[in-house]
Amino acid sequence: MLAISELTAGYHGVPVLHGVSLAVRTGEFVTVLGANGAGKSTLMQVLMGLLPSMSGRVEHRGEDLLRVPAHERVSRGIAYVPEGRRVFPALTVEENLRAVNLKHSATSYAEGLDTVFTLFPRLKERDIQLAGTLSGGEQQMLALGRALMSRPSLLLADEISLGLAPIIVDQLFEVFRDLNDSGVSILLAEQNALSALEYADTAYVLETGSVTREARASDLLTDASIVESYLQEL
Ligand SMILES: Nc1ncnc2c1ncn2[C@@H]1O[C@H](COP(=O)(O)OP(=O)(O)OP(=O)(O)O)[C@@H](O)[C@H]1O
Ligand SMILES: [Mg+2]
Repeated sequence: MLAISELTAGYHGVPVLHGVSLAVRTGEFVTVLGANGAGKSTLMQVLMGLLPSMSGRVEHRGEDLLRVPAHERVSRGIAYVPEGRRVFPALTVEENLRAVNLKHSATSYAEGLDTVFTLFPRLKERDIQLAGTLSGGEQQMLALGRALMSRPSLLLADEISLGLAPIIVDQLFEVFRDLNDSGVSILLAEQNALSALEYADTAYVLETGSVTREARASDLLTDASIVESYLQEL
């Protein structure tokens, strides 16, 4: 589905990612673990075409993704949940969902809304509520819902769990599992290693812009060095 090889990217000519290689197979749930500043969001931005790469390759379904304009990546079935739950606070839940640009997508607004409201009945109940008055967890559901409006086959998500109560984090991860079970491939950047490793198939550890580990997620849950670095809350 996605093959990243030797990717280098950064800001103002200074690399932040140093030759990152990583793969997401069709139907796979992959997580990228990394501390603050490791380069997780930088990676996501390159994949969405919001930041140019310096070198390296990204293949999506065998096609050179870095040559595909950002707005066309949605029509290739890729969607993105940015870090920090960016919703429009002064718009209602439904208006937030309708504000997604589906021009480059094969999906209609009716189909998108149906998908999102089926996954998140809580959003359906709050369809006319202003997004700014939603709880943090509901805002994250809405941010995820916005990404799902185009019914993607590859979902990129950046730190969905930050600042949320454990029970809400579990609910969100259950949605990721349902999506994954329905065939959506997932690449999730997370600091919450515990949930990410419980739900993902494969994990990569990103340290100051380099991949230092690749393993089955379940194996890292019991790995002493991972527990020490990322699972201290255990
Ligand atoms: N717009 C920018 N201009 C310059 N440097 C940046 C910019 N955005 C990020 N950086 C730097 O790139 C490095 C990686 O940042 P990035 O946001 O990718 O990390 P991250 O793994 O997502 O961290 P966090 O867990 O805090 O979200 C950091 O050193 C950061 O300061
Ligand atoms: Mg980040």
